Amino acid sequence: VVLILDYGSQYTHLITRRIRSLSIFSLTINGTSSLDTIKELDPRVIILSGGPHSVHAEGAPCFPPGFIEYVESRGIHVLGICYGLQLIVQKLGGVVKIGEKHEYGRMEIEVGKNVIGGLFGNTEIGDKQVVWMSHGDEAVKLPEGFEVVARSSQGAVAAIENRERRFYGLQYHPEVTHSTEGMKTLRHFLFDVCGITAGWKMEDVLEEEIKVIKGMVGPEDHVICALSGGVDSTVAAKLVHKAIGDRLHCVFVDNGLLRYKERERVMDLFEKRLHLPVTCVDATEEFLSKLKGVTEPEMKRKIIGKEFINIFDLFAHDVEKKVGKKPTYLVQGTLYPDVIESCPPPGSGRTHSHTIKSHHNVGGLPKDMKLKLIEPLKLLFKDEVRELGKILDISEDFLKRHPFPGPGLAVRIPGDVTAGNSLDILRQVDEIFIQSIRDAKIYDEIWQAFAVFLPVKTVGVQGDQRTHSHAVALRAVTSQDGMTADWYYFDFKFLDDVSRKICNSVRGVNRVLLDITSKPPSTIEWE
Ligand code: XMP
Repeated sequence: VVLILDYGSQYTHLITRRIRSLSIFSLTINGTSSLDTIKELDPRVIILSGGPHSVHAEGAPCFPPGFIEYVESRGIHVLGICYGLQLIVQKLGGVVKIGEKHEYGRMEIEVGKNVIGGLFGNTEIGDKQVVWMSHGDEAVKLPEGFEVVARSSQGAVAAIENRERRFYGLQYHPEVTHSTEGMKTLRHFLFDVCGITAGWKMEDVLEEEIKVIKGMVGPEDHVICALSGGVDSTVAAKLVHKAIGDRLHCVFVDNGLLRYKERERVMDLFEKRLHLPVTCVDATEEFLSKLKGVTEPEMKRKIIGKEFINIFDLFAHDVEKKVGKKPTYLVQGTLYPDVIESCPPPGSGRTHSHTIKSHHNVGGLPKDMKLKLIEPLKLLFKDEVRELGKILDISEDFLKRHPFPGPGLAVRIPGDVTAGNSLDILRQVDEIFIQSIRDAKIYDEIWQAFAVFLPVKTVGVQGDQRTHSHAVALRAVTSQDGMTADWYYFDFKFLDDVSRKICNSVRGVNRVLLDITSKPPSTIEWE
């Protein structure tokens, strides 16, 4: 494993991703983790990330005592990036001068002449490179035995190394694409300098996870899982099912807030294609009766969350009755970014509020259930989960589905969701919109697209008759992670066709609007 100690740089995840893209397993942990934690992971290479701190600041984060002795005794290669480089310099006896401000920028660097071996000892790496440098503190005196192997055009230290002791440092970010030779340098460092062999494959992840689950879940234990119809819970359940077979019990809840034919479609996938043991609970009545007359968005979400828990609780009791034993484990489709985000290093600017999704998760649990968690995807990124899904024979179409919120259509109908036939109208409009997007072959360009039902009526004229019907809005956004988003630029002809189709075929709609707000200031969903 290539272990990354995170000191709060916004690019730390990117390093992990870049290394995994070389088929090398890499993990990020908090940069102040204990030596025991590091030893337990038994890394071959350790990368110290960048970060917003000055090594001189009080409480500046650092690797644990005994770290240097440990890496040297084990022959572990250490690469410091930006702040990481300065930590190496300072802790090994060099001098880091305090800079006035910290900023990032493009810069040209030049690799020293006659560099043989080491960071740049590969003829494919250009001598002159454009890099993404972080200015700030500066290494002005190197520890003994270190040499400067690249400098910026202004003469600042850009790369250092001590090959004998296996310490290396880059003052710039090789992981960002602005650094032209960055990937080549990382590749050369890991394969040639550190002698790592590639071989981390999704197939191995699958095998390993199955082994872990088999070892964890005893032969008498039963496991439950709430399927949302989304990618993560489906892949997680399929994986656990492969490990323990029908001692896994899944539930899919139809809360009456699902999209057009969604229940039929996902149940078909679960049962016929994935052969998962799934109980489908139709709880439409329970959810809608509790939502009747409720208009406040947060209240709607709370009611839905609570009802999910009730139903899940009932399901767990049913399983207990059936198998004669309380279920011991719960499967959750937690992903790697959720795990890292929930324990951010100090000063990283990342806060717990980024974990907005935790309260979104369907598996919000009754406290007295005391289930242990199985989170088989917790080391993977979203695209890796998709890859794993493919190996598990889940169709690509399904794996590329846009996200759908836990509270379902309730957050796409401002106000009382039970009023009139708003749910029914919304389902039809949404289906036309999504199908048109699929037909136009732009589905994969869009992060999320959906229709919104507006609780207002406007006047129209249809078939020579005056109508007083509902307006609907269309929303489509592009995004990396849902945290920020841009509205998607459809072409006018497409919008014209969709609008006509909707008004011609959905009774009760005579006006179609397009939502052209980004996030921020709006959110993606309307509530
Ligand atoms: P917002 O509306 O906050 O949404 O900009 C960002 C992303 O999160 C999804 N979302 C949810 N997902 N349960 C979920 O599982 C929820 O309660 C929930 N609320 C929003 C939203 O669809 C978008 O992808």
